[in-house]
Amino acid sequence: MSVNPALSHIYRFVPGNDPTRPPLLLLHGTGGDESDLLPLGKSISPGSPLLSPRGKVLEGGMPRFFRRLAEGVFDEDDLRRSANDLAEFVEEARKRYGIAAPIALGYSNGGNIAAAMLMLRSQTLGAGILLRAMAPLSKPPRADLAGKSILVISGAHDPIVPPDCSEGLAETLSLSGARVDRRVLPLGHQLSQLDVKLSHQWLLEQTVREGSSANEATRA
Ligand code: MLT
Repeated sequence: MSVNPALSHIYRFVPGNDPTRPPLLLLHGTGGDESDLLPLGKSISPGSPLLSPRGKVLEGGMPRFFRRLAEGVFDEDDLRRSANDLAEFVEEARKRYGIAAPIALGYSNGGNIAAAMLMLRSQTLGAGILLRAMAPLSKPPRADLAGKSILVISGAHDPIVPPDCSEGLAETLSLSGARVDRRVLPLGHQLSQLDVKLSHQWLLEQTVREGSSANEATRA
């Protein structure tokens, strides 16, 4: 495990020890940091390489990935800039550690920047698990998300990201060609073991699906 501030973001990188597991890009929520989601990443995909940056924006001392004007009202210029900046960080880290395009695992503010990256820099990410996230851009570009799988999990009683917001996100991603699975759990904004279990299972299904597509391509 290493702490290395030399790239554009403060971050932690945990090397993987199972080559069959995809790398994860861990994106924390408001007030979190680069250590927050490491246990979640390890539970959802044991053995995966974990790349975990800290958001550069501070709101009342709390790290975030982009500025907001109010709860759920985003500074979209800053969001676009920050999503591109984060994508550059991921590209640099991929070269440094020799990892494939990672699966973004983002919670709340981290889920929102992951969604923006998928729309603005789709090639940087392999897939996405977006927990308690909403559609972050009011006029999203028509991204090319064909072949990308995205899991969106929201809470039925979430006062910060009500289910219709995550429904809008799922629709936007689907319209761009992504294969979207959306689940609504009987929960609020906080994560639970159910999120971990569903995300773990979903990721295993993706790995099996990719393995069988690769086998079919080899046979063809
Ligand atoms: C955001 O600002 O990204 C969302 O409102 C969620 C949050 O971080 O509170």
